[in-house]
Amino acid sequence: MTSSLRTCLCGDVDESLIEREVRLCGWVQRRRDHGGVIFIDLRDRSGLVQVVFDPDRPVQFALAETVRNEYVLQATGRVRHRPAGTDNPDLGTGTVEVLGLELTVLNSSDPLPFQMEDEDTGEAVRLRYRYLDLRSERMQYNLRLRHAVVRAMRRFLEERDFVELETPVLTRSTPEGARDYLVPSRVHPGQFFALPQSPQLFKQLLMVAGFERYYQIARCFRDEDLRADRQPEFTQLDIEMSFIDEGEIILVMEELVRAIFSSVLDIELPDPFPRLTYLESVSRFGTDRPDLRIPLELVDVDDLMAGVEFKVFAGPAAAAGSRVAVLRLPGGCALSRQQIDNYTDYVRQFGAGGLAYIKVNDLAAGGAGLQSPILKFLPEEVVAQLLNRVDAMNGDLLFFGADTERVVNDALGALRVRLGYDLELVESGWRPAWIVDFPLFEKAPDSGRWQSLHHPFTAPGEDDIALLETDPGAVLSRAYDMVLNGAEIGGGSIRIHRSHVQQQVFKVLGIDGEEAATKFGFLLEALRYGAPPHGGIAFGLDRIIAIMAGEESIRDVITFPKTQKASCLLTESPSGVDAEQLRDLGIRIRAAQATAGSDPG
Ligand code: AMO
Ligand code: AMP
Repeated sequence: MTSSLRTCLCGDVDESLIEREVRLCGWVQRRRDHGGVIFIDLRDRSGLVQVVFDPDRPVQFALAETVRNEYVLQATGRVRHRPAGTDNPDLGTGTVEVLGLELTVLNSSDPLPFQMEDEDTGEAVRLRYRYLDLRSERMQYNLRLRHAVVRAMRRFLEERDFVELETPVLTRSTPEGARDYLVPSRVHPGQFFALPQSPQLFKQLLMVAGFERYYQIARCFRDEDLRADRQPEFTQLDIEMSFIDEGEIILVMEELVRAIFSSVLDIELPDPFPRLTYLESVSRFGTDRPDLRIPLELVDVDDLMAGVEFKVFAGPAAAAGSRVAVLRLPGGCALSRQQIDNYTDYVRQFGAGGLAYIKVNDLAAGGAGLQSPILKFLPEEVVAQLLNRVDAMNGDLLFFGADTERVVNDALGALRVRLGYDLELVESGWRPAWIVDFPLFEKAPDSGRWQSLHHPFTAPGEDDIALLETDPGAVLSRAYDMVLNGAEIGGGSIRIHRSHVQQQVFKVLGIDGEEAATKFGFLLEALRYGAPPHGGIAFGLDRIIAIMAGEESIRDVITFPKTQKASCLLTESPSGVDAEQLRDLGIRIRAAQATAGSDPG
């Protein structure tokens, strides 16, 4: 026997060890007293095994009586078959048990603030005691899955000649559309580093530097409104390649994702992934990250509605930048008035003015077979064409959206997903897709200025460069997003590798020469020293793993995540700092903005 604390793992105790002595270490999952015998389920990283103490060894028995859940024990004992009829088929070690001969309490545990495997425990408590929460089977599985995914990613990329390189965390702003987290410099009073929103600029510089194939498991920081799939710090698998075009990147990245799913979960994803243009995706699903498992689609009916009397439809049908669309819900006639009202309230949050509908009770009965508050506003032949356009069937309910494209897409796009879940229409399986042919720019909703749909370093299509000056809205980009089951899991592009094109794009974005030189001078300069054509992608690691683990929130696949309010309940950060620290940094907190607990210094 070795001198180590244990000879074997709890989950490894099996029939091959019958009559052998083993020494185990672990936590008490559960202790039961049964007619003078004490059963302890001992847990370590490998699983559980039952250890039995009987009064034949009174000292150990008395000690076993004192242990409580989550005590840390070392137990030595002899492996034996469980008595007939007491096997536990749910347990890997369910046919055996260990008769306890020696027992040492390595550490005690306070009573837990919550039941570890209780699904109903509030998230605040779980995050406050994250180290206990992480002991649960679910979280152990999720984080081990995360490890397996990262390992599979590394293996794939190593085999293809990628080098793993690190880029700075204390850096300059790298714009990805969110606010920066800033870090004050003590050495340079009044000056700040920004934490990277992504390693975008550095990975491009690494291409200028000749590495050709780079990857990094990179932490990114974004100060933005948080949701289930967004954290202020999150992890990307960040990739960049030289001398490639979008076709080649798409191919290699698809292979990567297929390899991960296949090796980690034994799931074969489609080959190839379908590709949708941005326009097609938005027009059919109201979004550029469609959940293709939901068999519902938006259908345009602008041409049919342009001339009708009903102003709610006629206006948007005729206006540029607006649309009238129908979402056909098979079997939707069964929805009650109340349910329809609830869905109407739901779409209002996206700016929709209402949710007109037609119930198709009986096609053969003509107008009498239809039921709708708007029927009286629509000419018969328009209704007939409409039913034909959407392939209406008896029992269908047709929902209408009429507004700006943005409102209709947001409202009906979200309604489509909501209906999919509410009515259990979501098909099982894995539906990845590429979204391509994005516009390079979009109009900012508030200022009306052009902004990048991805980031400002995304290349315009070669044939569209001339349009940069004349018609920026028509310029397509060389970007591609990967979506899976309704989540955007990755996005990237071919980059601008010529300084003058980069300057042209900055100009459209309203970044003048001086600002460009101040903020991105180092990039523009680097592009002048033999920058190769290059492009890449970044995957949202947390999102991919959440989807693979079947979790709704990425918080459940992150060791120590932040709350929706961007704070850590475990360490109670962010927090105030000493007056002295602030003085060193040359920073004074304005009283009104000081949060409770922070020291105004
Ligand atoms: P992008 O901003 O699309 O691209 O980010 C890439 C992927 O990262 C994930 N992601 C997030 N995950 C969790 N929390 C967040 N707050 C968050 N924000 C983004 C998404 C997204 O698809 N530099 C470019 C990539 C490139 O062009 O190569 C970039 O960062 O899954
Ligand atoms: P109203 O004329 O406002 O009573 O609206 C008649 C029907 O059209 C109601 O069922 C409304 O919910 C619906 N409706 C109103 N505005 C819109 C809109 N922008 N898009 C779709 N339906 C709407």
